[in-house]
Amino acid sequence: MNWHIQGGRTLTDRGLATSDLSVVGGLFTEVRAADAQVIDADGLLVLPGIVDIHGDGFERQIMPRPGVHFDTGLALKDTDRQLVANGITTAFHGVTVSWEPGLRSLEAAKQLIGVLCGIRDSLACDTRLHLRWETFALDQMAQVMEWLSLSPPPIIALNDHTTGSVLKGTIARKIGQMAERSGLSREDYMTLLDRIWSRRDDVATAIETMASAAKANGNVLLAHDEASPEERRYFRALGAEASEFPLTLETAKAARQMGEDVILGAPNVVRGGSHNGALNAADAIRDGLCTVLTSDYHYPSPLHAAFKLSSPGASDFPMVWNLVSANPARVAGLDDRGSLNIGRRADVILVDACDPAHPHVVATMVQGKIVYSSGRLGRKPALGTPIDAG
Ligand SMILES: [Fe+2]
Repeated sequence: MNWHIQGGRTLTDRGLATSDLSVVGGLFTEVRAADAQVIDADGLLVLPGIVDIHGDGFERQIMPRPGVHFDTGLALKDTDRQLVANGITTAFHGVTVSWEPGLRSLEAAKQLIGVLCGIRDSLACDTRLHLRWETFALDQMAQVMEWLSLSPPPIIALNDHTTGSVLKGTIARKIGQMAERSGLSREDYMTLLDRIWSRRDDVATAIETMASAAKANGNVLLAHDEASPEERRYFRALGAEASEFPLTLETAKAARQMGEDVILGAPNVVRGGSHNGALNAADAIRDGLCTVLTSDYHYPSPLHAAFKLSSPGASDFPMVWNLVSANPARVAGLDDRGSLNIGRRADVILVDACDPAHPHVVATMVQGKIVYSSGRLGRKPALGTPIDAG
């Protein structure tokens, strides 16, 4: 199906302008196809689809309450509906491989990845993997290294929630939640944590092994929750070119000084701060210290964060939208998307922002296919041809 999106306020490199957009064979084209169906975008914003490089909202579809499990296929398909309804056209599911049992175990990851690989082609959103390897999960790393070769290639992120739990006092606040997630009693969780912590001398070598495997295989490597400029230097040397959720402003500054991307959570912007006391994303963006926003744990947030940070009439709106489209596409190494330029994949959303506090997605197109419509999408026949269901 070829399209002509007409009359919308379309985002270009220079800002929003009323202009039409043609789609032929799943790509943006200069020339309108003779058989193009017209989409009436009058009164709507026409924006590049959101590229979400770190989201684990699907976990709440698999286990909405502690110990309550739903079928993984059902969870991922429902997540897919949520993604496209929130304007996300490329999603990297953050699948954690931890030493914990339960939701973040190797077994759970195996199950999820198996199901995802089986249904990926039928999903509306271009759904990929962001493997979150817990660096203390030494017994699980062989399988993670094997997964680096999956197609499309996963992002791999080095996560350490163990040291923080033990040394930074997170555990006092979060132990109940972590034990619940794992299905263990608080006491058993603490015993397991002690056993895992005792292997800390082997972790640095494991990190180096994983990082060099990722670099050799061409995976995008990220480092998560870096706590200091020293940690940024350490992970940079291992090939992690972007800093994901740095815990301090100094760390974010250290990354930006080297021209590296800094990834923060969009819910942090929407809620007005970090839920776990880390740096404030809106402040970081204002100071040029954050270049990418992700859904983190809440799929509506990238869209809403952008409209909270700016408005379509403001001169910084294109820069703000880049936080959720062009920049994450660049970090993920996807140079075929993230903008509405000619030749890019036709991943585009139509947004009604009449109420800027509650913008909503009217339609979502992924590679030239309309995968979501709120029912308010105006379409009219072009050149006398009848409307197809699309
Ligand atoms: Fe974290």
